[in-house]
Amino acid sequence: MNILKISPSIICADFLNLKKDLDILIAQKIDYIHIDIMDGHYVCNFAMGLDFCKALNSYADIPLDIHLMIENVDEFIPDFAQFKNCIISFHPEVCYHPMRTIQLIKSYSARAGIAINPVLQIESIKYLLPDIDIISIMTVHPGFASQKIIPGSLEKLREIVNYIHSRGYSMEIEVDGNVSWQNLLKMRDAGAQVFVAGTSSIFEKGGDLRKNIMRFRSILKGVEKD
Ligand code: DX5
Ligand code: ZN
Repeated sequence: MNILKISPSIICADFLNLKKDLDILIAQKIDYIHIDIMDGHYVCNFAMGLDFCKALNSYADIPLDIHLMIENVDEFIPDFAQFKNCIISFHPEVCYHPMRTIQLIKSYSARAGIAINPVLQIESIKYLLPDIDIISIMTVHPGFASQKIIPGSLEKLREIVNYIHSRGYSMEIEVDGNVSWQNLLKMRDAGAQVFVAGTSSIFEKGGDLRKNIMRFRSILKGVEKD
């Protein structure tokens, strides 16, 4: 059984008390920190930037799970690949040569991932699968937190998981988007292993982050109802 991992989406943290939230994430030994990088082109939104990643990386010894929702991906790989043990996932449809982008990421000893836009079919990226370390399957449209899961996403997740397993690939399978208390177990049972946790679970408004992380883990372990 693969280890199930939690990757809190830091754009959902309390920006006015970020250090407090980070201290909780560190104390709770979360597996990754999911950072959405947006350029206002691939998605009509902006989020975190390189300096934010540097500050985060200098403070918390937790691998950065960098989700590039940007165009001109290759141009920025050297900058983002400087973070020890980081994952860099990008949307392959923005690259003319996504295989080269994967090789470029790996040439900096970072882990390479592709992020699957809800409208992208597995058929169009199947030749990339042998070379990636992680696949991030989006269950909401890229660019914004607090959305609802797109109907049919769980079936798509299952389809991609089955495709990957049938070919014996060993990448991690991440799910990103409305990983809510109600969706969490369904996503786990569909084969997700890494869970991007945001406003619909651990960072829910008015919630207790520490207790929510513990609740998230116990639901994943199947010891608590959702
Ligand atoms: C899509 C979002 C994620 C995540 C946020 O990349 O920006 O950061 O879905 O969590 P939710 O969907 O729970 O607000
Ligand atoms: Zn993301």
